[in-house]
Amino acid sequence: MATQTIDETKVEAFLEQILSEAGAALNAALIRIGDELGLYRAMGDAQPLTAATLARRTDTHERYVREWLNAQAAGGIVVYDPDTDRYTLPAEHAVSLADEASPFAMAGLFQSVTAAIRAEERMTDAFRTGGGVGWHEHHHGLFHGVERVFGAAYRTHLVNDWIPALDGVEDRLRAGARVADVGCGHGLSTILLAQAFPASRFDGFDVHADSIAVARRRAEDAGVADRVRFEVAAADAYPRRDYDLVAFFDALHDMGDPSAAARHARSALRPDGTWLIVEPMAGDRVEDNLNPVGRAYYGFSTFLCTPASLSQEVGLALGAQAGETRLREVVTAGGLTRFRRATETPFNLIFEARL
Ligand SMILES: C[S@@+](CC[C@H](N)C(=O)[O-])C[C@H]1O[C@@H](n2cnc3c(N)ncnc32)[C@H](O)[C@@H]1O
Repeated sequence: MATQTIDETKVEAFLEQILSEAGAALNAALIRIGDELGLYRAMGDAQPLTAATLARRTDTHERYVREWLNAQAAGGIVVYDPDTDRYTLPAEHAVSLADEASPFAMAGLFQSVTAAIRAEERMTDAFRTGGGVGWHEHHHGLFHGVERVFGAAYRTHLVNDWIPALDGVEDRLRAGARVADVGCGHGLSTILLAQAFPASRFDGFDVHADSIAVARRRAEDAGVADRVRFEVAAADAYPRRDYDLVAFFDALHDMGDPSAAARHARSALRPDGTWLIVEPMAGDRVEDNLNPVGRAYYGFSTFLCTPASLSQEVGLALGAQAGETRLREVVTAGGLTRFRRATETPFNLIFEARL
């Protein structure tokens, strides 16, 4: 048997990397705890404070808070000053972890992460059997986390950038259009559109009944329930109401049969209607996605998107990193002939499809 020479420097470098993986994995839950207990928000003014002060401000126990702060300092999330024994959350980090209204808000991401990884045992089984795990089977933190983290992008880009990037859609929405938001989850995208375009009417559809119940409450709270209706319906079965715009926000790749969804979208649209498809940023080739964004998306895709699709009929399992070429194939297979990338962000691809 040939002996393989091992480069010890590389071994040591890898051990350091793997240890840092363990720290990051544990910190996902620590970030979630900090988010839930308001620890980051209490540090949101970027002023140095002691563990005792933070514990007092948040009505928590100092011993736990000190340990948590040290973990945050070791991970570079807060800065520790040994001379004063104080910790600071830099302003540039506070916009991500302490301010839910910020366009950079990311705390919800960790609500999704910690909810997703609860499915570890089921997923281990699914790897063996090839079976699926439905979206609705996950811990409820997932639905709230997704709403929060996608919310930052939708509030920033949906009305300001994505709608104007579509051909003629903004004018139509202003004049009064009929819109379907398919796979709408908690309905944030539907409600944001309804608030921006008061002359239009909106229908949100999702197969997840609990999400639809939340979406209805959100529409009531936002005062748009007279023009926004949420119904439990699958992407290949919602009523065809001659829509001017059908929108799928981060949902197409989760579906078992995205081509059937495409065929249905085609038949639910007016002949001059538009299908807006928002999908996770991805290149066509695996090697295009071997970066921090692709890493997070492949991780979510393994836990959420791929098993969700496999739990439905056909089970095409596009995955979150399908990329433009594959998505184009699926959409055009549904009978839509014009397909183009209308715009993008570092995290999203925005496509326009027409008949
Ligand atoms: C990643 S979530 C996105 C939710 C929402 N659009 C958003 O952006 O926050 C995907 C959603 O698609 C829904 N979904 C999955 N398969 C579906 C299908 N075949 N028909 C309708 N909705 C579906 C799920 O229930 C889930 O709410």
